[in-house]
Amino acid sequence: MRCLVIYQSVHHGNTEKIAKEIAKCLDADLKRVDEINKKDLTEYDLIGFGSGIYFLKHHKSLLEFVENLPKMNKKAFIFSTRGLGCYKFYHRALRKKLIEKGFKIVGEFSCKGYDTYGILKLIGGINKGRPNEQDLEKARKFAMRMKKVG
Ligand SMILES: Cc1cc2nc3c(=O)[nH]c(=O)nc-3n(C[C@H](O)[C@H](O)[C@H](O)COP(=O)(O)O)c2cc1C
Repeated sequence: MRCLVIYQSVHHGNTEKIAKEIAKCLDADLKRVDEINKKDLTEYDLIGFGSGIYFLKHHKSLLEFVENLPKMNKKAFIFSTRGLGCYKFYHRALRKKLIEKGFKIVGEFSCKGYDTYGILKLIGGINKGRPNEQDLEKARKFAMRMKKVG
């Protein structure tokens, strides 16, 4: 099974840490969304899509990338890091687009990430040090599950 992890991480590199950990466990290729051509996806059986959450959604570049894909019959998983709140809700826009493109969603993962956006900067941010070792361990366990279902 060939796996690819596509990500975007613009705030503190939080999602990049998770993306690297998942890719390592899956022995997957790892690409930032601006480094990948949609034609390259044909080589893979399982593809992970992830970014930080910005204004209740995944990063615009990732959503646009998926929007421009042709119909695919592949398995996918979704991941994110976020400041607070419920990831099932934050994943809705990306999940919907992936399903529209024919992907079968086999899993979703999210953890907290250091967040200094806006007013939070004044209090030194929230979730300092996250993702931490426990988050990375959960990401590894998630990746092992993806290996089985993928
Ligand atoms: C512009 C902006 C908007 C954000 N909006 C949200 C949000 O709606 N919900 C949330 O939980 N976190 C939000 N965050 C926090 C980020 O999701 C969090 O810090 C994430 O770990 C950033 O990932 P990154 O370092 O990979 O970019 C926002 C951060 C920024 C910079």
